[in-house]
Amino acid sequence: MMRVLYVSTEVYPALKTGGLADVNAALPQALTGMGVDVRLLLPGFPAFMHAAEHHGPAVSLGPAFGLGEVSVSRALLNGVPVYLVEAPQFYGRAGTPYGDAEGRDWPDNHLRFALLGWAAARFADGSVGGWRPDIVHGHDWHAGLAPAYLAARGVAGPGSVFTVHNLAFQGQFPGSVFPALGLPPDFFGVRGVEFHGMVNFVKAGLHYADRITTVSPTYAREIQTAEHGFGLDGLLSSRAGELSGILNGVDRAKWNPSDDEYIAARFDAVNFAGKAVCKAKLRAELGLSPESPGPLFGIVSRITQQKGLDLLLGAMPELIAAGGQLALLGSGDAAIAERFRAAALRHPRQLAVRLGYDEALAHRIIAAADVIAVPSRFEPCGLTQMYGMTYGALPLVRRVGGLADTVRDADAGAIAAGTATGFVFEEASASALSRALERVFALWREPATWSRLLGTAMRQDFGWTPSARRYVELYRELRPRT
Ligand code: ADP
Ligand code: GLC
Repeated sequence: MMRVLYVSTEVYPALKTGGLADVNAALPQALTGMGVDVRLLLPGFPAFMHAAEHHGPAVSLGPAFGLGEVSVSRALLNGVPVYLVEAPQFYGRAGTPYGDAEGRDWPDNHLRFALLGWAAARFADGSVGGWRPDIVHGHDWHAGLAPAYLAARGVAGPGSVFTVHNLAFQGQFPGSVFPALGLPPDFFGVRGVEFHGMVNFVKAGLHYADRITTVSPTYAREIQTAEHGFGLDGLLSSRAGELSGILNGVDRAKWNPSDDEYIAARFDAVNFAGKAVCKAKLRAELGLSPESPGPLFGIVSRITQQKGLDLLLGAMPELIAAGGQLALLGSGDAAIAERFRAAALRHPRQLAVRLGYDEALAHRIIAAADVIAVPSRFEPCGLTQMYGMTYGALPLVRRVGGLADTVRDADAGAIAAGTATGFVFEEASASALSRALERVFALWREPATWSRLLGTAMRQDFGWTPSARRYVELYRELRPRT
């Protein structure tokens, strides 16, 4: 049986700041279903310590990073075995996994996540509870040092995979922190963890891992270009042979309109009437007018530069003038959020903005929306456009990353062929988005065609099985032959 240590920081529902948590809940379960012995290694954040069912005594890893004693305890989370790194001085803090309640990064994040990578490497020789992984699979910068600590052992060991969910977050720290990481001195170099004089955790993962993956085929190509590579495009293209894009899936146990506890009425592609109930209820809940000549747009998103919501602000006059409605749930950039709030005050019957994080409202918006808007500047995969299609909301997206891989634009050819599933625009500008909006409104006036697109969108299978199979193939290629 293939043994995989899966190293990450977020798992839905215990702890989530974005799509990473959804993936880390669904993918390990899918892999387990394929006979892989996958175990998660997680920092012992309070949310995990409370949610996990603990069993078995903790195994001491000894002192590390100035901490008296670090241990790893075994537990179950979502039915999957997990190891929790117990280091209360590092992980037992209120706030997000990465910073305090005000959103400021913890000043010792380099040590907090070095510990995670270091602990992962400690499993290599089977000395932690007698379980030796064939593969160590790390996710995003927080796990970036795991392949470096494995390489530092200097002996053959588990294969390593590093998955980039978002190259914008790299875990960069002043070069002066390097000695505290306990890596061999020559690891601080261009062929190592160093990036322009800084310690860069993502670069460590990209350099030392045996295989690199990211979460869509298009993003795998894009990050090899200067436009999307955040300075790491050279390294990524030099490793193109070991880099692949494996699309995320939808966890049908959590995102399924025919079985969703959060929504007002259940529906599916055949029994679609419940969708109208969801829409009416949401409009009432948010104070939107019960009728509108245009579609109801929904957005559920972090509010950051990445997500391109400022482009939508630029196109808002058109959306309002054409009689559309918009329900937005998001959190993040205060200035952009404030502009949405001000617009909602001017048009309270057409535009509703809810700031904060609210899982149930996210489901209600996606279930009610006619269109789910994801106008991202870049998008490694994106989950909400797939959730939207599953719930009968046509995506309006920019042709970038996983959005390009999952949405088929309603051009004349695709409409005629019955393959269209949404609206795709090219340029990251308000005017390109406005032109796409015109196409949305034009198609809305053709209900028969709109319904045909909905049918095509909803009948797609975004299940995890094919992607989980690709990860298993990758693990097999790397499994040390013993
Ligand atoms: P990213 O990981 O870049 O934020 P994804 O589309 O991959 O983007 O995943 C976002 C996930 O976070 C989805 O599950 C979405 O429903 C959820 N989400 C984003 N913002 C909110 C919010 N304000 N409230 C509840 N859920 C949210
Ligand atoms: C990141 C990306 C998003 C992706 C998610 C899960 O947060 O921004 O596009 O879907 O990770 O892989």
